[in-house]
Amino acid sequence: MNIIDIISKKRDKLELTKEEIEFFIKGYTENIITDYQASALIMAIYINGMTEREIADLTFAMAYSGETLDLSELGNVVDKHSTGGVGDKITLVLMPIIASLGIPVAKMSGRGLGFTGGTIDKLESIPGYDTSISIEKFKENVKKIGISLMGQTLNIAPADKKIYALRDAIACTDSIPLIASSIMSKKIASGANKIVIDVTCGSGAFMKTREEAEELARIMTSIGEKLNRKTVCIITSMDEPVGYAVGNLLEVIEVVDILKNKYMPEDVKKIIEELGANMLILAGKVSNIEEGKHLIIENIKNGKAYEKLLELVKSQGGDITYIENTDKFEKAKYITPILAEKEGKITEINALTIGKLSCYLGAGRIKKEDNINPKVGFVFCKKVGSNVKEGEIIAYIYSDDEKKTKEILEKNIIKIQ
Ligand code: URA
Repeated sequence: MNIIDIISKKRDKLELTKEEIEFFIKGYTENIITDYQASALIMAIYINGMTEREIADLTFAMAYSGETLDLSELGNVVDKHSTGGVGDKITLVLMPIIASLGIPVAKMSGRGLGFTGGTIDKLESIPGYDTSISIEKFKENVKKIGISLMGQTLNIAPADKKIYALRDAIACTDSIPLIASSIMSKKIASGANKIVIDVTCGSGAFMKTREEAEELARIMTSIGEKLNRKTVCIITSMDEPVGYAVGNLLEVIEVVDILKNKYMPEDVKKIIEELGANMLILAGKVSNIEEGKHLIIENIKNGKAYEKLLELVKSQGGDITYIENTDKFEKAKYITPILAEKEGKITEINALTIGKLSCYLGAGRIKKEDNINPKVGFVFCKKVGSNVKEGEIIAYIYSDDEKKTKEILEKNIIKIQ
């Protein structure tokens, strides 16, 4: 078998065998297949697609390209993943709720790349929070307090790591077979048997249309079935940022406020109810969606989810006094209001634009090695559809750079009609 024949086969729209896919993944992981050969094959897959059988074989080969984690000793763990978005703080809101309902949460999360954020970057804005604890400590925390959230310290799905970086560099990120295999391989390798996936759809997501999101959801569910992992996909909107805050620390503060029951953005409520109820069904805790939704909101209102968040932060070395009093967090140097230019209705807060501008302010990274600034981003005061008066404050820019703030102020990023 050789890689040139495999590339030609996919270039000519033919179906690859399981053995050919495994040959590629093993060879690329071990640096025997070069980046330029892998780029050619990935581009051929991007253009010509894959059958469901090929996607399942690709997923399996990537999942077992490195270390795998066995979580069976922890009980009925249900995992959650998002296909990515802007202001997407759902993991941080939902997982303490799920744990407070007695379902073990053992979750490995990622960092942000490009305009999408990542849970690990957000958690690291809490002083002391250690996202790279040992696997033993990770499991011990789940056994003791029912929850642990950490980064990927193990060599989980290294083939995905290499292919993901390559896709980013050759304009092949938004491909259904490549996204489906990337997500599912990581989930399988990190020990998830039951998985709820938030398939985001809209300007700030990889899937721009409902049809594409439905197709991605269908494929991931079917891969899960083939590989014996119960998978439920929920499609959620990513046209405007989720909630009101965008930026790592700003999102953590919003999560704390939500779990302290200070306020609840409508979109966050809808997403946590839908995802959470499905997680509770998969865990066998409830038998229908309505009952699940009720429990999710109840455990915010009774304070149990907030208590679980405090336990989580404490167990991973974080200073809970910052959670108890978020005014303690050091804020960005310049907090500048954006005023409504006229009276009317907000018609657009484009998630992609906001994600890119947050990245420009320093909230995200362009390259994996980049450092991020946890303090910068945006806090909106209104959502799309809200009425505003001329001169009313509609958002704040959090920035450490006066020049960048001025540039953003000139951009008219919130459309009013
Ligand atoms: N999230 C992933 O883990 N992989 C993708 O390809 C896209 C989103």
